[in-house]
Amino acid sequence: MSLLEVRDLKTYFHTKEGIVKAVDGVSFTLEEGEAIALVGESGCGKTTTALSITKLLPNEGKLAGGNVFFNGNDLVKLSHEKMRRTRWNDISIVFQGAMNSLNPVMKVGDQIIEAIMLHKGSNRTEAKKKVKELFELVEINSERMDQFPHEFSGGMKQRAMIAMALACDPKLIIGDEPTTALDVMVHAKFLICSKSLGKN
Ligand SMILES: Nc1ncnc2c1ncn2[C@@H]1O[C@H](COP(=O)(O)OP(=O)(O)OP(=O)(O)O)[C@@H](O)[C@H]1O
Ligand SMILES: [Mg+2]
Repeated sequence: MSLLEVRDLKTYFHTKEGIVKAVDGVSFTLEEGEAIALVGESGCGKTTTALSITKLLPNEGKLAGGNVFFNGNDLVKLSHEKMRRTRWNDISIVFQGAMNSLNPVMKVGDQIIEAIMLHKGSNRTEAKKKVKELFELVEINSERMDQFPHEFSGGMKQRAMIAMALACDPKLIIGDEPTTALDVMVHAKFLICSKSLGKN
C-alpha cells in the first residue's frame, strides 16, 4: 500500500464567470520514504492539488472527482472533523507564503508549543523541549522562541513554519513552495534535509 495515492483528482472552482478546471485528472503515488515534486508553470494547479489533498479548499473550490488514498483510506470521503485530526498529526502543509501565516500577536515559540499540546496531547514542558529541538533543526537560535513574528526575518518566519509543519512528526509533509523566502544556501540545505527526513 502506498503512503499517498492521488487518483484522477479533479478540482473545479465555481466562479461568477464560470467553472475553472484548476485540477483536471491528476494522478500520482508516493511511497513511504519517498519525496516527489510537482513542477509546472504558474497557475497550472500545484497549490490547488495541495489544498485538495488536505481538504483546505476555499468554498468555491469543489472536488469534482477522484480519490486521495492516504495509507489506504480515501481522504475525499473523510468528514471535516476527522480530516482536522489527520492534519498536523499525519499530514502537514507549509503554505506558499507561509511566512505570513504566523499569528502576529503571539510569540513564535508559543504558537508551535500550543500546536503540539493540542494535537499530541503533550504537556507544556514536553512541547517546549520539542520546539527547542525543532528550532535547532531549522537553524533558529532557540532563544528566539520568546520573540514575536515581526522580530523575525522573512527567512526565519518561513523556517519557523517549517518547524511547525514538523512539530507533530507527520508521515507526510506537503510543501507549497516552502523555500521561496530562504536564501540560496539555506534553500539547498533544507531540500537536502527534507530528502533525508523522507528516508527515515
Ligand atoms: N479561489 C479561486 N477561485 C477561482 N479560481 C482559482 C482560485 N484559486 C485558484 N484558481 C485558479 O486555479 C488555477 C490553478 O491555481 P493554483 O493556485 O493551483 O496554481 P499554481 O500552480 O499553484 O500556481 P503558482 O505557481 O503561481 O503558485 C489558476 O488558473 C487559478 O487562477
Ligand atoms: Mg501555487
